[in-house]
Amino acid sequence: MNDALTILGLESSCDDTAAAVVRQSSDGTVNLLSSIVAGQADLHADYGGIVPEIAARAHVEKLDLCTEQALHQAGVTLRDIDAIAVTAGPGLIGGVLSGVMFAKGLAAGSNLPLVGVNHLAGHALTPRLTDNANFPYLMLLVSGGHCQFLLVNSAQDFTRLGGTIDDAPGEAFDKAARLLGLAQPGGPSVEACACDGDPTRFKLPRPLLDRPGCDMSFSGLKTALLRTRDKLVAEHGGLRRADQADLAASFQAAVADVLAEKSRRALREYLSHSPRSRLFAVAGGVAANKCIRAALETVSNESDTQFLAPPLALCTDNAAMIAWAGLERFRAGEFDDFTLSARPRWPLDQSSPAMLGSGKKGAKA
Ligand code: KG4
Ligand code: ZN
Repeated sequence: MNDALTILGLESSCDDTAAAVVRQSSDGTVNLLSSIVAGQADLHADYGGIVPEIAARAHVEKLDLCTEQALHQAGVTLRDIDAIAVTAGPGLIGGVLSGVMFAKGLAAGSNLPLVGVNHLAGHALTPRLTDNANFPYLMLLVSGGHCQFLLVNSAQDFTRLGGTIDDAPGEAFDKAARLLGLAQPGGPSVEACACDGDPTRFKLPRPLLDRPGCDMSFSGLKTALLRTRDKLVAEHGGLRRADQADLAASFQAAVADVLAEKSRRALREYLSHSPRSRLFAVAGGVAANKCIRAALETVSNESDTQFLAPPLALCTDNAAMIAWAGLERFRAGEFDDFTLSARPRWPLDQSSPAMLGSGKKGAKA
């Protein structure tokens, strides 16, 4: 039996401003009382990617409104809150800084403890918020800015088994959409376009499958897609609808194959460490893709391991996961003072070697 805790979570590390309230009752029951997400897609639409300065300014404008809405929707006031959890990194530094400064102000004004949260820990701990998952489990975090396999040993202990050495898959989907003349964000539009395409028509590469381990690479796939598209355009004077669909389907199949095979390897490693706990969870926007989700579920079934994909709203960036990760930290007796700083880079597994490259959403952690 524990004390009941009610935590306000704040997120502003990329292009979503979010606030949420999570409560854990004394019997351990968890309730997501509210979750507000204000996206910025419209603000960045003309630029073909996220403009960090625009994102940071929009966070400053929206953080207080989102917080007000989250408290209102949860039916609580700041007096009912036990601590304020805020993303302190990794991410676009202007956005992270906006959130941290806002949280400090709110914590000072309301005399509440401040809990800095690693955004990646938020994603990685989501299966505990949604499904009360037990440690240790295997997590594939796959979004527009991140791609890594993590052994989640406890709320503070993560082992990175591998990750992308260049682009994240969501980033690759976004670039693929640009090459195919489809709308942003690229994931949903490539998936929709791929529906009536032939995934076997174009033999796009499956990078790094010939190398052992769980590291991945997606930038060569994008270049192969560019070359194939250019060849079709030169042959036919433009991209025909059927070619566009076949390209989208072939690209999606290649990403799914890579993620599936690398998941197979990561699962093998996880199960060799913890043969009795068998849970593979996925998080991040790319987990919304039905073809990829099905491929991961198949791999999970092969090794008799439970597969968990949280609801989409909790897969993509949100503040509920930050509130939950903050709650786990706070329950462990950890919190921060006003020297809490915003960190652009903050690997979860401090002992793993730094990865190459930095994507559109900032340095990969
Ligand atoms: O987790 P998220 O909302 O934000 C971060 O990147 O942190 O993920 C957004 C990414 C975008 O790159 C988007 O294209 C991709 O997830 N995405 C998808 C799908 N829906 C969103 N990728 C593939 N298929 C989808 N259905
Ligand atoms: Zn994220």
